[in-house]
Amino acid sequence: MTTIAPTTFSVPKRKKITSRTFRDRKERGVPITMLTAYDYPTALAMDQVGVDSILVGDSLAMVVLGHKNTLSVTMEEMLHHCRAVARGAQTALLIGDMPFMSYQVSVEEAVRNAGRFLQTGKMEAIKLEGGRERENAIRAIIDAGIPVMGHLGLTPQSVNQLGGFRAQGLTARTAKRLLEDSLLLEGTGCFSLVLESVPARLAELISSRISIPTIGIGAGVGCDGQVLVTHDLLGLFDRFTPKFVKKYADMHSGMQKAFANYLEDVQTKSFPAAEHTIEMKDEEWATLIHELDKSI
Ligand code: KIV
Repeated sequence: MTTIAPTTFSVPKRKKITSRTFRDRKERGVPITMLTAYDYPTALAMDQVGVDSILVGDSLAMVVLGHKNTLSVTMEEMLHHCRAVARGAQTALLIGDMPFMSYQVSVEEAVRNAGRFLQTGKMEAIKLEGGRERENAIRAIIDAGIPVMGHLGLTPQSVNQLGGFRAQGLTARTAKRLLEDSLLLEGTGCFSLVLESVPARLAELISSRISIPTIGIGAGVGCDGQVLVTHDLLGLFDRFTPKFVKKYADMHSGMQKAFANYLEDVQTKSFPAAEHTIEMKDEEWATLIHELDKSI
């Protein structure tokens, strides 16, 4: 049976990352690192190695819950996973992703649901998708004292309107609209902006024209920071891997291998071995047998 020895990483103790740290990083030209997490152990490992920000993304719907897109995940499901992540992370800035229909219906509902991410989800900021059409909701959420991260380009909650998960801003007209929306979001007071699946030179141009940091996913190296869906990075999502993902591990096969080894060990009785077994003192055992012999 194979036993895996743990590797430990030690990073210097860090100061708490806040939305202000993001702006400071942009001013100093220091790239911002962000990853998604949906549970306690993943958040703990990320925080321990020094990831700047953890997004509890609505990608939860697809990579954890197995839905075909992000539209089905509910506020309750998001909050449940937010709380688990918050228990694991101490330093990273925690951002909760507002799910489909939690901010589109009315400004009041948007503010209330954003507040729930902080009150019961233990997040420190929220993210929502969209530009000019979300201006009023974003302004009201920020007025309530909640830091907002914008999200433009490929906005997965609009997958049905976009006609699939496809790159955005490929024409001069749509690229100009993306730049206008980025300037608008900066003007509303968003502290940062995710740019998803847009041409690298457009993302670089936007990053140079706005004062708030851009966090790219499929948007090239010219952004002020990068985010990936952790299940893509770890090779845990079996369905497809977008072109912009770099796989740092193949944990799906790693899991299959570990499970297959376990099956074999159980079937051949090589697990549990002596080191996994609880022993009883000989004299206690002898007493038990003696007692049983007497009573039968
Ligand atoms: O839900 C998510 O994981 C996201 C990232 C792709 C930015 O929105």
